[in-house]
Amino acid sequence: MEHHFGMDKVNIYFLNNKKQPLIISPRWDPSLSFLCSFLRENRTWIDETILRHGAVLIRGFEVKDGATFERAIMSYQPSLNCTYRGTSPRNKIKGTTSIFSAAEVPVNFPIAQHLEMSFLSAPPRQLYFGCLKESQTAGGETALCNFKQIIHDLPDDLCQKLLEKKLKYTRRQRRVGNKSSHDVSDQNGWSEIFKTTNKEDIKQMCKEEGEEVYWDEEENFISTWLSEPFQLHPVTNEPVWFNHIQVFHWTTFPAELFHAFLRTWDLRFLMRALYLGFLCIFKYALLQQQMSLNITYGDGTPISFWEMSIIRNAIYKNMVYSRWKEGDILLLDNFSTSHGRQPTYDKGRKVVVCWSNPLKKSNALKNCVDAKSSIFQGREALHSTAIHSKSIDDPVIAESHYEQDTLTDTDFTSLIGSIDSDTLKERDFARLNLSSSKALSTNEKQPFITDPSFWKMD
Ligand SMILES: [Fe+2]
Repeated sequence: MEHHFGMDKVNIYFLNNKKQPLIISPRWDPSLSFLCSFLRENRTWIDETILRHGAVLIRGFEVKDGATFERAIMSYQPSLNCTYRGTSPRNKIKGTTSIFSAAEVPVNFPIAQHLEMSFLSAPPRQLYFGCLKESQTAGGETALCNFKQIIHDLPDDLCQKLLEKKLKYTRRQRRVGNKSSHDVSDQNGWSEIFKTTNKEDIKQMCKEEGEEVYWDEEENFISTWLSEPFQLHPVTNEPVWFNHIQVFHWTTFPAELFHAFLRTWDLRFLMRALYLGFLCIFKYALLQQQMSLNITYGDGTPISFWEMSIIRNAIYKNMVYSRWKEGDILLLDNFSTSHGRQPTYDKGRKVVVCWSNPLKKSNALKNCVDAKSSIFQGREALHSTAIHSKSIDDPVIAESHYEQDTLTDTDFTSLIGSIDSDTLKERDFARLNLSSSKALSTNEKQPFITDPSFWKMD
């Protein structure tokens, strides 16, 4: 059996039946030094686990501030990247070299689900969040969503339309941002985004990104580029929803606030949703103004209110909302698992972020119907094999079917019952234990599988 450092000293479990995120917490040693050793020694295993579950949450260790967060992260990923061309205003955290505040926008602003910098040519491969202060009131979660699932929850015709027309981003930034704007992407000016006022330097940076840029007579920076709506995951080859439509459509802020109201029943979200709803209809629908980072179909035609509604519902369906606890560290596969901020009215909430390994997008999905049908047929075939021929006598395969939702809970339970336990290896017990305890795994305190061989991917 392959040796993994310190696995007997941690609990590993899930908070929800979407199995996202996977949680790692200390059994008896919460020290930062143990955490750093654990992360350093188990780097490959953690990589595989992030890949498999999309998100890993490390909870209960002595991570008190930006410096200890950075120390923990760098023991896992020594080369962090500091280049940020995204849209949220961010400040470097004191006493660190690569840690930033997650978003310097008022905490009652929702930030819709997105893969970090997905609209750039090389988004970070992984993203790391740290919670230095949790929200004490409703909201404030950094919700997650499995963007590999979105293709299955969108209608074929909308997917195909997006693939055929592609997406056009138009970025229009003032020289200095407007910090009181309701548009998050308008809060940073171009001189703040590029950290320089030298236009030649900026042109060179944008050329490397494949973007043509110019400045209009009012000194506004303008850049336009086409992008694909889906990318194939660089490791698993699954189609991933890979764009920022849901963040920069003009309906975003009122829609996200209304969604937050429906979750929390906090009337302040409803009032703000109504206010911004009227404002956005007036500005963007009637006056035809544009968001600072505007997205249309590639031919310039708008993405309609109803199309946005379908897209948003597909995302909401797949979201998980784990509440932060102080000292939490969240590790994300930024090529499969999105994040976004639920609004809150607790101004004390403090979440920091860093990222690594920019990876060139080069694997766009071309045909949605083919992709969907091949995945569907693959699942159907698995299901047919599993149920009708009753040919599954290997718990590892059974677990794999269950993981892919080709077996129902009942079928899986009956298959487990048909397997002679004497023939199972220790590792297979662990696999079965994980799957059959799906219903139990909502109990956060439940000690869970610590057999490292289970987590090794095949
Ligand atoms: Fe983000």
